[in-house]
Amino acid sequence: MVLQSLAVPIIQAPMLGAQGEAMTLAVSKAGGMGSLAAASLSPAALAAAVAKLRSETDKPFGINLFILPPTQADTDAVRAAMARLAPWRERYGLPAQNIPNQWAEPFEPQFAALVEAAPPAASFTFGILTPEQVSALKARGTWVIGTATTVAEAKAWQAVGADAICAQGLEAGGHRGTFLKDIAASQIGTLSLLTTIREAVSLPVIAAGGITDGKAIAAALAMGAAAVQVGTAYLLADEATTSAPWREAIRQADDDATRLTRAFSGRYARGIENEFMRAMQPVADEIPAYPIQNALTQEMRAAAAKAGDAQALSLWAGQSVALAQPGPAAEITKRLWSEAQDALRMASSRWL
Ligand SMILES: Cc1cc2nc3c(=O)[nH]c(=O)nc-3n(C[C@H](O)[C@H](O)[C@H](O)COP(=O)(O)O)c2cc1C
Repeated sequence: MVLQSLAVPIIQAPMLGAQGEAMTLAVSKAGGMGSLAAASLSPAALAAAVAKLRSETDKPFGINLFILPPTQADTDAVRAAMARLAPWRERYGLPAQNIPNQWAEPFEPQFAALVEAAPPAASFTFGILTPEQVSALKARGTWVIGTATTVAEAKAWQAVGADAICAQGLEAGGHRGTFLKDIAASQIGTLSLLTTIREAVSLPVIAAGGITDGKAIAAALAMGAAAVQVGTAYLLADEATTSAPWREAIRQADDDATRLTRAFSGRYARGIENEFMRAMQPVADEIPAYPIQNALTQEMRAAAAKAGDAQALSLWAGQSVALAQPGPAAEITKRLWSEAQDALRMASSRWL
């Protein structure tokens, strides 16, 4: 299994919009497992990315996709959403919006390219594969990780044949992977989620959410996690593609800076609270589902980043954001692991 071959049990979380191949390579070469967020890639770009990663490292890496059904757009809801966004587009000097030709990269062709490219590992969020899809990946030697935010989701991934579960606690930055129950029933903290999933399934469990320093890594390992998946701790890395205003918001964030919101994408995600999130709060239930709102806000977010304004940017970050530190991703990986080893040593010398 891939996790046993890692020198360092740290998986860099796939982070769409915040990382590319440079971060994946840096973490894999440092002994952890780098991931590449590939949800926005065309099948050809996905194949090229895997070929590039494979040409640059023989260490394990993972490719991540969003499992999405074909988009059904309700024209009236789309027009209402566009009307709500119009003043924000004006603020950044953008012209009136057209309905996009495509809401998101279709999943099926991406998945076919992934199977063909056969990366060492593949992870999935927002949904679940069929047993046949899991078998197709495994037949090509790809190790399959399914994201779960509840025990029921973890059991569902085990039932379709996944190799490991990524238990995504409520603390996590970015989108919730939830796919079975509603958001209210799927807000379980990493501590409880890791413990209950570990008891309910026989697969290795990767702990994710709020793990931003070595002591938290040590705690997760002591609790039976096979590895940790860390996102926010890499957001200030040299290799991160995090924009300048996003970086600044992270540097200034305190312990209660983040909220869950549907405002930017139509799917619940955790980020640092800003003006756009607050403005959309009263109409939160009317926002069209992912990927529609995500596509509609894309130009606005890009324009806000360009203008250096964090108030209309999706500032995805986890609850422990205040602990994120800058530096090369390899150094962050090494520091986290050395801190974790110190914490494990300290705990055992104190208590054993
Ligand atoms: C900026 C950002 C983008 C993310 N994008 C993805 C993604 O593309 N795919 C995915 O499976 N998870 C994504 N996540 C969630 C991570 O996989 C992981 O659950 C989370 O980062 C763990 O919590 P932490 O941020 O507190 O470390 C993202 C997280 C962040 C912070």
